[in-house]
Amino acid sequence: MPSDPNANYTNSALRVGDADPYPQRLVGEFISTVVANEWINDEYKHVVLKVHPHALKAYAGQMFHLLCPSPDGAEVWMRRPMSVYRVDKANGQVEFLYKTEGRGTRGMAMLEPGDNFNIAGPLGHGFTLEPAWRNIVVLGRGVGLATLAPLSQLAAEKKIGVTAILSARNPGVVMSRELFEGLGAKTITVLDSDGSSAVENVERILESLIAQGKADAFFTCGSNRLLKLMQRLGKTHNIPGQVAMEQIMVCGFGACYVCMRTFEVDGKRVLRRVCRDGPVFNMQEAVGW
Ligand SMILES: Cc1cc2nc3c(=O)[nH]c(=O)nc-3n(C[C@H](O)[C@H](O)[C@H](O)COP(=O)(O)OP(=O)(O)OC[C@H]3O[C@@H](n4cnc5c(N)ncnc54)[C@H](O)[C@@H]3O)c2cc1C
Ligand code: FES
Repeated sequence: MPSDPNANYTNSALRVGDADPYPQRLVGEFISTVVANEWINDEYKHVVLKVHPHALKAYAGQMFHLLCPSPDGAEVWMRRPMSVYRVDKANGQVEFLYKTEGRGTRGMAMLEPGDNFNIAGPLGHGFTLEPAWRNIVVLGRGVGLATLAPLSQLAAEKKIGVTAILSARNPGVVMSRELFEGLGAKTITVLDSDGSSAVENVERILESLIAQGKADAFFTCGSNRLLKLMQRLGKTHNIPGQVAMEQIMVCGFGACYVCMRTFEVDGKRVLRRVCRDGPVFNMQEAVGW
């Protein structure tokens, strides 16, 4: 069990069962309890956290800022941003799907059921679904699928059909298929290993969905080339779209300007903070990376 990172922080964080002193506030700091933290393949883990009800206000595309435990006893500076993967209101739980990358996520991978885990949020602006939309297309790759998966929850609540195109290196690292399908989405898997993830093939799939009237809006995350493809088709067919962006973050709430990215609005280049102005943006305004 790693050292307790909560020891370094305020005691204002809410635990399950605490009274909520500021119910009107959108954001809070919470000490959650780990329910499960399991490997789902060689690279990704799925963590389930029991949280104070205030944290259940999170919706698709929003993130929490996680105070990851140290994997080696030395300080892990700064919190790590993570998109909410699922909000399970009935069981009072939020879930994250994460790739073990560096020290923060390696420390997170060491959490065991019953451990405390300090999370702050929900932060940022997530996805929005227009009432007029009947069918949407979600296209994601790698960990971007963790960010897009809760859209299926939001769409199911609003009775909007979802086609999810899941792009991955090989069948072993395709993620979120069960979550999408469990909520009624149709999934199409495209892989590097058999060449089906090539842009030309994904373009054919998207054109076919557009022709069938299944694409009232586009959503993407996790790949620059897929973003460019959806931007191009969105412009040609006049289909609105949203993209969830990633950027290195420090504060997570708009104060430090570390997470700036360039956008193009009405022909002019502007800088926006991914944490505060996003992380979900109008797809046509995003400048890739
Ligand atoms: C809005 C948002 C949502 C995210 N959602 C998820 C998610 O659902 N699941 C998931 O696995 N990851 C997600 N990430 C990425 C996650 O924040 C990073 O993988 C994590 O911060 C890495 O921390 P670390 O200490 O393990 O690695 P570090 O040692 O800090 O870094 C390891 C590698 O990850 C890169 N990295 C570090 N921070 C970020 C960052 N903020 N964004 C992108 N790359 C980064 C570094 O450049 C380096 O290459 C999200 C990032 C953002 C900004
Ligand atoms: S991380 Fe500080 S402004 Fe976005």
